[in-house]
Amino acid sequence: MDHIILIGFMGSGKTSVGKQLAKTLGLPFIDLDQLIAKKAGMEITEIFERFGETRFREMETECLKELSLNGERKVISVGGGLPVRPENQQYLKEMGTVVLLEASVQTLLGRLQYDSTRPMLKGGELKRKIETLQEQRKAEYERVSEISVTTDNRSLSEVVEEICKIIKS
Ligand code: S3P
Repeated sequence: MDHIILIGFMGSGKTSVGKQLAKTLGLPFIDLDQLIAKKAGMEITEIFERFGETRFREMETECLKELSLNGERKVISVGGGLPVRPENQQYLKEMGTVVLLEASVQTLLGRLQYDSTRPMLKGGELKRKIETLQEQRKAEYERVSEISVTTDNRSLSEVVEEICKIIKS
């Protein structure tokens, strides 16, 4: 398949970049977290609170699997934890071009400081949480992505432009 899938840590800009990239390329855009929330009839935070992370991860895989069966070319953004599961990595690779959006801990801190919608970052010191999770996920992100683009100190349109350039080359 020929989808463009955006992966990366929470706050790396997947949803904003995905929307803009889809608009530029004239493709539909789907955010997997929004799809999960719509199907469950509740926000991601509520899914975590009521059913826990394990059930959320199952829902992620179910939705990804469903999306993988739908052929129309799209730009898709997925949650920061999704690429960690080997099963998901297989789907992602089969679905198209996987683009990793990168951001430094400093950038992420700035973007996530006042966020209350990410259950994985609740409690404890935010910087430490970001560093630890990023370290755990880095190798998986790199394993599954073909392209990586930094978002540090760059505007949305600069990031989108770079992705378009790489994809078309
Ligand atoms: C998660 C990232 C979130 C969302 C959930 C878990 C994670 O998506 O899927 O809160 O484990 O990194 P974003 O990366 O879009 O914030």
